[in-house]
Amino acid sequence: MEQSTKFASRKRHLIAGNWKMNGLLEDAWQFIDALGDNPAPDHVEVALMPPFTLLHPMAEPLRQKDVRLGAQSVYFEKSGAFTGSVSAMMLRDIGCHYVILGHSERRDIIGESNNIVHSKLDAAWNAGLEPILCIGEHLEERKTGKTNAVLAEQLSVLEAASADASLTVAYEPVWAIGTGLTATPEQVTETHAFIHSELARMGHDCRVLYGGSVKPDNTAALMVCPGVEGALVGGASLQAESFNQIIQAAASVATGE
Ligand code: 13P
Repeated sequence: MEQSTKFASRKRHLIAGNWKMNGLLEDAWQFIDALGDNPAPDHVEVALMPPFTLLHPMAEPLRQKDVRLGAQSVYFEKSGAFTGSVSAMMLRDIGCHYVILGHSERRDIIGESNNIVHSKLDAAWNAGLEPILCIGEHLEERKTGKTNAVLAEQLSVLEAASADASLTVAYEPVWAIGTGLTATPEQVTETHAFIHSELARMGHDCRVLYGGSVKPDNTAALMVCPGVEGALVGGASLQAESFNQIIQAAASVATGE
């Protein structure tokens, strides 16, 4: 049963929108009104990660559009005196399926360490959430040949995890986030191959998304790279029009049309 569930989620590519710290209620309603139908639901899954404040109001309208809900972070404790924090069970309770963990903006701005990401992974799994674990190197690290070492270190949080744990990984080169720069197809292919090999070494077989300036006009070229099974989209997910176009481009690649 576990295996078939895993395969069922694996066979579809995932297009996930990370709104980061953007969006008021009015934006949420406009977005939902303008969000088109997924043209290939058997091949592409769609998810949205709005800020905490929009999770509950958007949960039901997104569910009706067959869009999965996710949060952008979580705290690892179950409950208690942790002012300002949100637990994994609270996210599950309001209908979240995913939670993004280890995003570079949290690693770099909030100072989230691998140890904290590790604790958050366990909290997410215990609550029945599927983590989207973000990994990625800085430009200086790429330039000095440290990319694989950085990614291996970030992936090491999965070393002791069960092979059956539901999981998605997102490769987001930090230098490509919000910059308009994307990794070349060669860099994406090579890096995804390394990530899949590290995952396999630890007994994991999961989807690996690409993220970093994914736009409607570069989606197809990124999605055809071997080892890429979807995208984590920031800026271009804020407008329904560009998000729709990305979903359509991914659907065309996935269905071979
Ligand atoms: P951009 O698509 O805005 O570069 O953001 C990518 C990202 O960080 C998604 O998590």
